[in-house]
Amino acid sequence: MQAPRIRPAGDPDAEDLTAMLAGLTDLSLYFRFQTAIGRPPRPALVLRMLCPNGRAWVATRGDTIVGHVMWAWATSSDVTEPTAELAAIVSEPEQRRGLGVRMLSIAAADAVAAGAKRFLFVVSPANDRTARMIRRRWPDATVERDGTLLNFLVSAHLPEERPDVVDEQVRGLEGGEVAAAGELRPVDDAVPAC
Ligand SMILES: CC(C)(COP(=O)(O)OP(=O)(O)OC[C@H]1O[C@@H](n2cnc3c(N)ncnc32)[C@H](O)[C@@H]1OP(=O)(O)O)[C@@H](O)C(=O)NCCC(=O)NCCS
Repeated sequence: MQAPRIRPAGDPDAEDLTAMLAGLTDLSLYFRFQTAIGRPPRPALVLRMLCPNGRAWVATRGDTIVGHVMWAWATSSDVTEPTAELAAIVSEPEQRRGLGVRMLSIAAADAVAAGAKRFLFVVSPANDRTARMIRRRWPDATVERDGTLLNFLVSAHLPEERPDVVDEQVRGLEGGEVAAAGELRPVDDAVPAC
């Protein structure tokens, strides 16, 4: 089976990203967006995912988008140093194969290069798997409750797992596109031209 590949996202991906989001379960969508986004999601939301105030990537299997990751500058008034909010979503059949961590590694490296000092992950309290994933990869994470959500704040660095794999992927990305082999288990500035 062909491995997913990760490449920078752009507005030509709108239709395929819409199709991916429309095919996800309500639970995955809720964990990613913490609200009902509609099915299919609104074009404005999809466009913000593809051209954030930061950068975005999609993972593809053949012509199909199977994952999305982005970082965007956090703009709330209590942010004291450059903080990049990271978020990812992977289609259900592709989950638990390392793709989420690989995509987050690429986004993390890019955000650091853009000057981020801290990362922010906004997570639903019911999203145990993401909370565990963050705590394992960023053990210095602190968590604050923000209304009904949890804000995980960490110092900006790559996930603490398989840096060799991460380095290889990030280097490869400079060529524009990288393989995201399923067998490898790693462990809104710069607005992209859309
Ligand atoms: C969170 C998400 C992006 C992770 O992507 P993924 O490709 O499944 O993740 P990986 O395979 O890289 O695994 C990361 C960790 O999540 C765990 N995990 C992933 N899917 C899981 C599931 N269905 N049940 C339990 N654990 C799961 C993996 O076991 C791994 O755990 P570890 O930290 O003990 O190694 C993906 O599950 C997803 O899209 N979830 C819905 C949206 C969401 O919650 N986004 C996060 C908002 S910041």
